[in-house]
Amino acid sequence: MNYDDILCQRIQGVKPSGIRKFFDILEEMKDAISLGIGEPDFQTPWHIRDAGIYSLEKGYTKYTANAGMAELRREIAAYLERRFDLHYRFSDQLLVTVGGSEGIDLAIRCLTDPGDEIVVPVPSFVCYGPLIEMAGGKPVYLELKADNEFRISPEQLKSVITDRTKAVVLPFPSNPTGGIMERADLEALVPVLKDTNIMLLSDEIYAELTYGQHHVSPANIPELHDRTIVINGFSKAYSMTGWRLGYAAGPKEIIAQMTKLHQFGIMSAPTMSQYAAIEAMRNGDEDIEKMRDEYDGRRRYLVEGLRRIGLECFEPKGAFYVFPCIRSTGLSSDEFCERFLLEEKVAVISGAAFGPGGEGFVRCCYAASMKDLAEALTRMDNFLTNLRKKQGKAGD
Ligand SMILES: Cc1ncc(COP(=O)(O)O)c(C=O)c1O
Repeated sequence: MNYDDILCQRIQGVKPSGIRKFFDILEEMKDAISLGIGEPDFQTPWHIRDAGIYSLEKGYTKYTANAGMAELRREIAAYLERRFDLHYRFSDQLLVTVGGSEGIDLAIRCLTDPGDEIVVPVPSFVCYGPLIEMAGGKPVYLELKADNEFRISPEQLKSVITDRTKAVVLPFPSNPTGGIMERADLEALVPVLKDTNIMLLSDEIYAELTYGQHHVSPANIPELHDRTIVINGFSKAYSMTGWRLGYAAGPKEIIAQMTKLHQFGIMSAPTMSQYAAIEAMRNGDEDIEKMRDEYDGRRRYLVEGLRRIGLECFEPKGAFYVFPCIRSTGLSSDEFCERFLLEEKVAVISGAAFGPGGEGFVRCCYAASMKDLAEALTRMDNFLTNLRKKQGKAGD
């Protein structure tokens, strides 16, 4: 069989995520510390797990409505109003998905005709570009800069918009940079988007994890509301990555098309997870605060520690990553990560994996224990000291 001929050219043309190979090395290594995986280190709070278990005990094991249980959609609508002042009808403006990931995929596929352009600010989460390509579209990368705190400026946005632009991804709070867009930053985009038909795909999976300031969605800005699709979910805020549950909120015309795709491809999101999610929405606010406070302490500790050992570092305002600049080491991001892992057994992720603009940085996830963060910093210090010694010698 010639599988290359059989397989879809478009899918074959998409590059696999650069992160995987790295985790394969890590898995084989004893005593390694991982600041690599972007996943909360907390257990899902017990009362939420219990609600999932109870649903199984009651035998609630059938499909649900395609868009998700009405009871859950009602709770999501109430939650979005309570926490973010966002107003969506449960009946036709909300869709329960398999993680935020499915919502992103559905939105992209619903917006993309062959050759359409979607603007993707980078460095950012790895899925947007490949999903756009697989939908037949063209990702147009917009490089965000550390000296602008990894925000999008109106001038930058204007410079990449063409008459093929269908949408702009807004990946804030950002994985991997920790950058956010404040209200004024979003408002500044209004004149650029006015009189266009461009949609905003706002990935707000880290909306609950901001430090010192409340998350603002583009859907909070009246002029941007109708052009925004909000993607959110349970993975990060409630430490529920494995439950695979998220949701999309937006204009009913778009949610209807996304629901149609979801109906044919997925049917309905996992039923047990939906029951657990109802409990999370009703009684999970305190869990969020507790985890966020804990992350905040670690964030400060890691930023301070990285600066102390000589790495320049933008102070992240959201999510759970620090994105130090490693250019002073003279290594590329890939070299840095590979050598740091092999020499000191600590995994951090190369900034280059997050698209153009990520080179020169590495991503350190602080959803890890303080003990691991302290040990990782000691090893990083050691690595940098040895590197400087070797480089000093080489220069002699
Ligand atoms: C920015 C961003 N969006 C979406 C996701 C996917 O989340 P989910 O588990 O809800 O599919 C992730 C996961 O790491 C992420 O970092």
